[in-house]
Amino acid sequence: MAVQISPSLLAADFGDLTTECARVAGAADWLHVDVMDNHFVPNLTLGLPVVEALLAKATTPVDCHLMIADPDRWAPAYAEAGAGSVTFHAEAAHAPVRLARALRAAGARAGLGLKPATPVEAYADLLPEVDMLLLMTVEPGFGGQEFLEVVVPKIRRTRELLRGRDDLDVWLQVDGGIDERTIEIAADAGADVFVAGSSVYRAEDPAEAARRLRARAEAATAAAWWSTT
Ligand code: DX5
Ligand code: ZN
Repeated sequence: MAVQISPSLLAADFGDLTTECARVAGAADWLHVDVMDNHFVPNLTLGLPVVEALLAKATTPVDCHLMIADPDRWAPAYAEAGAGSVTFHAEAAHAPVRLARALRAAGARAGLGLKPATPVEAYADLLPEVDMLLLMTVEPGFGGQEFLEVVVPKIRRTRELLRGRDDLDVWLQVDGGIDERTIEIAADAGADVFVAGSSVYRAEDPAEAARRLRARAEAATAAAWWSTT
């Protein structure tokens, strides 16, 4: 799987989201939208009406990261609205297999998110049901936090689980504290989809920042144990 960059709009100007989307057009594979409900995480951002408005304007596919309680009830609407990828959290879902199938049936890629302390092994048998695993590299809820190195062994173990599974096409996304230094660590460990909020949108030129991140990740991937052996 080629490196993909998903800039997080959480660090963008919420007052001018259309312009902020355009600022990374051509340099980003996805626009990462963080939906927070002040129940699953102690922060509140935006919901379906704003995502629908974004989908009507954005030229880049939308990657919805739902940090919400009861995704079984709410997530399918994001897929039905046209989000290309919808990720719900394992810790919040009541019936993850049923939910992943509903997302796929609605035309989206189904993502399963894991907080830093949630083991991936518990979900190994579910891999055929999902299109992406999202490993949080910060505790979810806020942008601008420091990358948690303690998650790196889990990224490696996840890549090990995925290696040699030609029957699967599961992307491995990391989210939180990704910058030009930590993206190399994450890519080396096995990640292939990189969410970056502050390091893209706090840069003077977000598109250039996204391109630089991609170059770093591609170089690290080319030399990584999991891509060379
Ligand atoms: C945090 C969100 C992230 C956040 C990342 O809970 O899921 O997507 O925007 O922001 P940075 O890249 O600043 O850590
Ligand atoms: Zn996110």
